[in-house]
Amino acid sequence: MELFDSHAHYNDEKFEQDKEEVLKNIYETGVTKLTCVGYNEKSSEQAIEIAKTHDFIYATVGISPNDIPETENEFEQQLQKISKLAQNPEVVAIGEIGLDYYWNKDNKEQQKNAFIKQIELANNINLPIVIHTREAVNDTLEILKEQMPAKNKGIFHCCPLNQELIKQGLKLGFYISFAGPITFKNSKNAEEVIKQVPLEKILIETDSPYLAPEPKRGTRNDSRNVIYIAEKIALVKGIPVEEVAKATYQNAEKIFQKK
Ligand code: NI
Repeated sequence: MELFDSHAHYNDEKFEQDKEEVLKNIYETGVTKLTCVGYNEKSSEQAIEIAKTHDFIYATVGISPNDIPETENEFEQQLQKISKLAQNPEVVAIGEIGLDYYWNKDNKEQQKNAFIKQIELANNINLPIVIHTREAVNDTLEILKEQMPAKNKGIFHCCPLNQELIKQGLKLGFYISFAGPITFKNSKNAEEVIKQVPLEKILIETDSPYLAPEPKRGTRNDSRNVIYIAEKIALVKGIPVEEVAKATYQNAEKIFQKK
């Protein structure tokens, strides 16, 4: 059984010491594709570097809502660099981008501006987007529907377990990527939400090194744990885990295409 982890951060400092060993183990245990996601200029450069040196890894580049510089000027400079980085053949999406009113409430306008400008970039160079949205459902949907629709669609990464967001996201043509929280014992509506999304629109991810699923909760996460996400989906949908693995693999290959 092969698995595709649609979202992980091997560009995070928590992997600095043993990245090569971890990546080797991951591949050998059957996670034969994964997307390493950037969240600012430096991590985007690193994601490309990792993808260049490992054939099974794809990269994304972008400025996350939690990494937006204070001034418009600095943002514009970083955006220029992200646009250049996006030209690399390893880059398969712009992201993670979006809105996060949980960690940052005081710069909503800057967040929206950064989100819109990066969707514009993705549209200009024909790439999908990877969306990070937290406590910002209405503004996220408003931007995606009205202000700046994403031409090549994309993915709701670590999708909030919010039925309205998922309903609207599916209507817009986006993929829903499930992560560790669907396995947490206190996730109230995980089952309803999993049932709500058809298999052909589901991706699975770890968001490593964060959000380790049950039964590994609290440890440094890595892509080997993506199996627990697949198992939970299989359990809720009442289908074999191999079927979830295969469908999510094909879905991820469809949305992430190396140039
Ligand atoms: Ni992430």
